[in-house]
Amino acid sequence: MENMNRRKFLGYLGTGAAALAAASAGLGTLAPTAEAANSADHLFGFDKVKKTKKPHGFFKPIDIDWSNDLKLPEGFTHDVIAVYGDVINPAGDTFGMGADLNVFFPMNGSSDRGLLWTNCEYISDDKLLIDSAMPASMQGSSLLTKQLYHQGGAIIEVYKDANGSWKMDTTSTYARRHNGLTPFKLTGPAAASSAVGGATTVEGTWANCSGGMTLWNTVLSCEENFEKQAGLANRNSTHYGWVIEVDPFDVTDAGVDKNFTPRKHTSLGRFNHENTAMGLTKDGRIAVYMGDDKRGACVYKFISNGKYEPSKGKANSALLEDGKLYAANLGSGKWVELTIAAVRAAVDKSDFKVPTAIRAYSDATVDDLRAMFQTQADVLVNTHVAAIILGASPTDRPEDVEISPFDNSIFVAHTNNSHHGNIHGHITRFIEKDNDLGSVDFTYEIFAAGGRQSGFSAPDNLSFDSNGNLWTVTDYSPNQNSNIMKDFGNNSMFVIPTFGPNAGEAFRFASGPSGSELTGPWFTPDEKTLFLSVQHPSGTWPHRSGDSIPRPGVVAIKGFKF
Ligand code: FEO
Ligand code: CA
Ligand code: CA
Repeated sequence: MENMNRRKFLGYLGTGAAALAAASAGLGTLAPTAEAANSADHLFGFDKVKKTKKPHGFFKPIDIDWSNDLKLPEGFTHDVIAVYGDVINPAGDTFGMGADLNVFFPMNGSSDRGLLWTNCEYISDDKLLIDSAMPASMQGSSLLTKQLYHQGGAIIEVYKDANGSWKMDTTSTYARRHNGLTPFKLTGPAAASSAVGGATTVEGTWANCSGGMTLWNTVLSCEENFEKQAGLANRNSTHYGWVIEVDPFDVTDAGVDKNFTPRKHTSLGRFNHENTAMGLTKDGRIAVYMGDDKRGACVYKFISNGKYEPSKGKANSALLEDGKLYAANLGSGKWVELTIAAVRAAVDKSDFKVPTAIRAYSDATVDDLRAMFQTQADVLVNTHVAAIILGASPTDRPEDVEISPFDNSIFVAHTNNSHHGNIHGHITRFIEKDNDLGSVDFTYEIFAAGGRQSGFSAPDNLSFDSNGNLWTVTDYSPNQNSNIMKDFGNNSMFVIPTFGPNAGEAFRFASGPSGSELTGPWFTPDEKTLFLSVQHPSGTWPHRSGDSIPRPGVVAIKGFKF
C-alpha cells in the first residue's frame, strides 16, 4: 500500500506543474470559473504569473510509526518553537497547555517573522499544572486559577534566524495571553439578553479548539468542549461555547475604536465550536462556515447582512454582529435559516415531538422546548436544539471546515461516530449552487473516507495549500493491540490532493509522538514553513534536558522545495 501510494504521488507531482490545468481536467462540472479562482487568490498567495508555486514538491510518504517522536519525510526537519510553560514575554507570561489552532500573522509582509496565535485548548491532566509553568508572579495559585490561565490562546512573536531555525522572540512587545481570566465583550443579538443572564461582558475563554483568520487580519478562535470547565469554575455556561475574536497586533486590546476588547460573537451561535472558515459571497458579504464537534451535530454557516469593505480594515468586525445563521439539511440540500419565528412555528404545532437528536443530549420535554425559545437570543444560545427542531441534519462530529481556493467547494471533516459504527469518519465536500457561498442550496459528495483502504482514520483539522492539496490531521486513540486500529499507527498528518489522478488519496506526511494528536496546521504565506501543534503527547516530548513531564507545543516544519 505504501509503495503504491508513493509511486502514484510522485507521478501526480511529476505531472502536476500546471495545477490549474489539472484542476480543470479533474473537476469536470466543478471546474473552477475564472471568477472563483481569482476570488480565492489572495487567500492562498496563488502565483498568477507562474500559475502555480508547486510548493510542496516531492516527498516520500512515511510509514506508520509508534515512537515518541515527531516523524517527517526525508529532507524535512522541524524546530520546536514554544511549549507548555515557556516564558513568552518580558512580563513573564507563559505558553499554555493543549496547543491546537495556529494562525500566522506576517509582520511587515514577511514570511520569516510574525505573530503566531496558538490555541491552548484544554488541561489534559491536572498533574501537569506544575508551579514552574506559571508566571513567577502567579506561582502558588489555586488549581482553578492554573486551569484558567493555561487555556485560551497565546500570542507569540516568531522568527527565522540567520541559520534558518525558527525561534520565539521573548522580548516581544506583542506577545501576551488571552485565557480564562481575560474579559470579553459579547456582541450581537444575545449580548445583554436574558438568555445570557443579561451579560455584556463575560470572564474568560477556554476549550479553544480550532478557528481561523478573518479577512481583516484578526483571529477567530472556537470554544469547543466548554461545559466541564464552566462547571469547575462555577461560571454561567451560556458565557462559553462562542467564537471569540482577537486582534494580535492590538497590544492593549483597546481597539482602533477604543472599543475592540476581545469579543465573543453571539451571531455565530453557541455550540461545541470546532473552527471557522471565512469567505466572500458573490455579492460581497461575509460567509463563515462552522462545525459543531459532537455526535449527531450540524454544519453551520453565517452570512453577514453587510458587505465586506477592505478599506474599513478591522472595523469589518462589525459584520460578525449582524447576519443570518443557517444549518445544513443534507436531505433537502438546503441551508435552513435559524430564526425564532421558524422555531416557534415548529414547537407550537400540536403534534410536535422532541426530535431524537435532541433527546441524545437532553431530557427536555415538549413544554421545556416551548419555554426555551422566546427570542432570537434563545436561538443563538441554544443553537443545536434550534437547528434540529428546524430539520437540520445531525451528522458525525463535524470538525474542521475549509473552503477550496480553487472552486469554493466546502470540505468538512466528519471525524467519526462510534455510536453507529462510523469508526473512521469521512471528509464531505459541499458544492454551493453556482459556487456562491451566499447560496441557500447545495449538494454534496463524500470526498474521502477513513479506513484501511485510505490509510487514515478520524480526520480533524484541515488546511489547503496553493496547489489544492488538503492537509489533514487525525484524531483517534492509537492502539497497537486493537485489530481495528493497529494499521493506523500514531495520529498523523496526511496530504490529500483534491483534484487530479490522486484526488481523495491520502499520503502520510507526519506521524506524531505517542499519545499525541497533531493539530493546527498553518502555512506561512510563502509556504516554506508549516506550523503544527503537538497536543497531549506522552512521555517527556519534546525531550528537552531536565524535563520530567510532556509539554504540548508548536513546531515549525521546514524542507518544502520550490
Ligand atoms: Fe478539539 Fe474537535 O477537537
Ligand atoms: Ca480539533
Ligand atoms: Ca480533536
